[in-house]
Amino acid sequence: MTQNVLEAAGTLIIGAGLAGLFTALKLSPRPCTVLSPEPVGVGASSAWAQGGIAAAVGLGDTAEAHARDTVLAGAGLVDEDIALGVTSEGAARIFDLLDYGAPFDRDSEGRLLQSKEAAHSTNRVVRVSGDQAGRAIMDALIRTARDTPSITLLEGVVVDDLATRDGQVVGAFARQIADPMAAPIYISAQEVVLATGGIGGLYAVSTNPGRVRGQGLGMAARAGATIADTEFVQFHPTGIAVDRDPCPLATEALRGHGATLIDENGHRFMFDIDAAGELAPRDIVARAIHARTSTDRPVFLDTRQAVGAAIYEEFPTVAQYCVEAGIDPATQPIPVRPAQHYHMGGILTDARGRSSLPGLWACGEVTATGLHGANRLASNSLLEAVVFAARIAEDIAPLPMTADQDATQAIPLEPPLHGPGPRQDPHEAVATLRDVMDRHLGVVRTAEGMRTALRTIAELEETHAPGSRAFLNMTTAATLIAAAALRRTESRGGHFRDDFPDTDPAQAHRTLITLAQALAI
Ligand code: SIN
Repeated sequence: MTQNVLEAAGTLIIGAGLAGLFTALKLSPRPCTVLSPEPVGVGASSAWAQGGIAAAVGLGDTAEAHARDTVLAGAGLVDEDIALGVTSEGAARIFDLLDYGAPFDRDSEGRLLQSKEAAHSTNRVVRVSGDQAGRAIMDALIRTARDTPSITLLEGVVVDDLATRDGQVVGAFARQIADPMAAPIYISAQEVVLATGGIGGLYAVSTNPGRVRGQGLGMAARAGATIADTEFVQFHPTGIAVDRDPCPLATEALRGHGATLIDENGHRFMFDIDAAGELAPRDIVARAIHARTSTDRPVFLDTRQAVGAAIYEEFPTVAQYCVEAGIDPATQPIPVRPAQHYHMGGILTDARGRSSLPGLWACGEVTATGLHGANRLASNSLLEAVVFAARIAEDIAPLPMTADQDATQAIPLEPPLHGPGPRQDPHEAVATLRDVMDRHLGVVRTAEGMRTALRTIAELEETHAPGSRAFLNMTTAATLIAAAALRRTESRGGHFRDDFPDTDPAQAHRTLITLAQALAI
């Protein structure tokens, strides 16, 4: 099969969410090529972030206090050096974002306004117009990136495979979305940065954009990268329970603002479970809601008293979702349910953002840096994305730019396959996979359920992956999640097992796993 070959202008960055674009901007004037499946910024989870970005920039707050909260939320698995390093760089990255044009909310004296979210010991979340931080930050970065001559943006291009030679990542195989049957393009590059986001699309109920479905995790694992912490999936307690895919989110900042969680009788039940009430760590709140909604008992987020009609101005995104569902949040409580929201696990990286494969760096949700442990602290994800993006740019910048003359000589992989699976509509296979993940790798798990999930994933993979590399990336990511979850025989943070409900101090360590190990479980 003939390969189309392209040499990336500089570093190849796969993904154009916050992590990818920030890496590109920080690399400037060193050239880079950024690949995005859709117009830049569309379909990236970053643009959907409502709350904002956590950073210790408020009066009286410190990086140490922020790191402490991060470690506590992470249920024993946070790398404390990474946490303090990231929180210490928070202020500098906020100033970078301001330089790039992020319109953060300020008070009348020009100080940054900060919201409170669960498990933060103080108001720490830098925000934009209440609940529009992600969109506003991304708009500013997209404008700046488009005006930066060192950045080449290639839109409508999706990557299914990393290209490796002798264990080194040397580029990627890409295809144009508009022409699915066209031959893949081999894009060679001296450095590759993966910033493809999380895994939400593997779940039937997720707050993530649909295209974010574990593709980076899958392709990196297939290329041989070490993967970590995949069993830890975060479920946001307050997805808005309306029949919509992806599931709309009611930001945690609403609870930080005083909104309450009530059952069908108006009882505020969270204080029966945790002294912190609605602001208990996310996994605890999600489980408390799941215990009700999974047995058809409704739960509501009541913003009427705490926010009232001001929700339309102060939380316009949430208000809009409600109105579209026929709910007036000023006068009616909002029905909520947990929804898959974030993946703590991913490609293992070191403090510079290097993966275990030479030539491959990674940042953003696709990684496991050690910051989140078993349970991410709210609004630490955007912070992690920009801190590691900046570190990666710093790591790559001094590398000599030697054109790889023989990059096209020894194309190391078999040609990627494309097109639909031969025997069944892949849409149905995707729907089955998402359903299985929701059912068996959701808020509450059991050994039996996870074994069922592993069997179904393997069957789906056998039937459909030969026709679709994209689907193979999904099943690979799903296998890594299920296998690590089955192996962890305890409950901790985002991983809760009905058959092992307690935390086992002997398992207070991170799970490192390769694809070969996952397949052997
Ligand atoms: C939210 O606004 O509730 C989401 C923030 C986050 O997931 O960090």
